[in-house]
Amino acid sequence: MQNTTRIDPADIARQRDFCAQIRERNAALPAPPLAFVDTYGCQQNEADSERIRGFLSEMGYGFTKEEAQADVIVINTCAIREHAEQRVLGNVGALVHEKKAHPGQILCLCGCMVQEPHNVEKLRQSFRHVDLVFGPHALWRFPELLWRVLTRRGRIFDTPDEAGSIAEGLPVRREGTVKAWVSIMYGCNNFCSYCIVPYVRGRERSRRPEDILSEVRELSQAGYRDITLLGQNVNSYGKDLGLPGVDFAWLLEQVNAVPGDFLIRFMTSHPKDASERLFDTMAACEKVAPHLHLPFQAGNDRVLRAMHRGYTREHYLELIRSLRARIPDIVLTSDVIVGFPGETTEEFEDTLKVLEEVEFDALFTFIYSPRKGTPAAELPDPLSKEEKAANFQRLVDLQNAISARKQAAYVGKTMRCLVDVLSEDPRHNLNARTAGGRLVHFSGDEALLGQFVDLKITDASTWALFGELA
Ligand code: 5AD
Ligand code: SF4
Repeated sequence: MQNTTRIDPADIARQRDFCAQIRERNAALPAPPLAFVDTYGCQQNEADSERIRGFLSEMGYGFTKEEAQADVIVINTCAIREHAEQRVLGNVGALVHEKKAHPGQILCLCGCMVQEPHNVEKLRQSFRHVDLVFGPHALWRFPELLWRVLTRRGRIFDTPDEAGSIAEGLPVRREGTVKAWVSIMYGCNNFCSYCIVPYVRGRERSRRPEDILSEVRELSQAGYRDITLLGQNVNSYGKDLGLPGVDFAWLLEQVNAVPGDFLIRFMTSHPKDASERLFDTMAACEKVAPHLHLPFQAGNDRVLRAMHRGYTREHYLELIRSLRARIPDIVLTSDVIVGFPGETTEEFEDTLKVLEEVEFDALFTFIYSPRKGTPAAELPDPLSKEEKAANFQRLVDLQNAISARKQAAYVGKTMRCLVDVLSEDPRHNLNARTAGGRLVHFSGDEALLGQFVDLKITDASTWALFGELA
């Protein structure tokens, strides 16, 4: 079944005509106008911001990192937790003053937060200095929306509540020269009971394999060495395409076959869809990095059921055993939520046991944050804030001890690493990553950026390794 809406290339071409019109207008100004794109949240948002920058660049905007200098500000927002939303609203509120000093400035908000009706209402009523609000489904129409703001000076809200579509052929302006994101699918169908993503990002829809592969080919030819395939749940890639034999493992094999010396990473995987076939493929594909980010969220089966995760703790542990049997040195990372409504401290301790049993290399830990409109937000939540905070601290302390131990085990080894960014720390001017994704600081010639080097690991902390050229 082929049920994904694809935007007609003629409609994309029309958007690029709007870019050309804005470019003409900008060319008449005494100096090129400047844009600032600020991104909150996950890698998908980073990838979306690269498209927004692509459009802006085509429109003739230069870029700045200072709000005060910007003629156009785009804030790409995140809705995953309350804290992220508070930060955005605080920063947007403060921009009233910038705008007073710079009356022609255009302020745009996009991303997941503006897809929530209560936030749209708040922006309409109380944030009148925001000119343009567009949700993830409207991103491909950004040039037309900005054109309307530029020519009419009215406020525009474009936040349709839809299942979502796929727009190919948008310009991209990538931030780096070594690492690149490639979205392979959008949306999520899982409706974990705590999560806002399926409501704001629409249903799962996959890009066509040929579109993904030609993007990867271009990236490899352009010298990118670290390519991350992105999706909310990459393991369900292809389900909507109706192409026999096309699934995520197949896609990995195809990407692996693209010529070039590069690493393939991917995220995020869902344990309910991770399969032995995937692990076999990871083991067989030499470019696929020995790293799996596999969020388990909670270690107690009752809590997992209430979260609507679709697997048990034992199933998760079995997946890890099966993966380690194939790739013994696999780097494992995960996401965990503490304080899901109704989770008792005893149930929380099952999460600690998973940490002890698996020994993740690193963990992303979150305190549950109620999201309006999700089923979990309606559940009774008797555990106090203090108890949750105490549990959270136990989790962090345990993981830090495990991470420190695992990191220390690298000392003395020599690892092939990719030099991926210049460091801002004068003590070591370069940052590199092991194939498994662990960060290594070292010093060397900046011409090494983008190259694979052998680094001897000389020291380790909980978060980083330190090395020297071997
Ligand atoms: N509260 C806290 N953490 C959440 N996550 C998703 N929704 C929430 C929420 N409401 C976490 C999950 C997910 C990660 C991206 O964010 O652990 O894997
Ligand atoms: Fe949210 Fe669950 Fe979908 Fe991940 S899989 S985006 S946690 S609903």
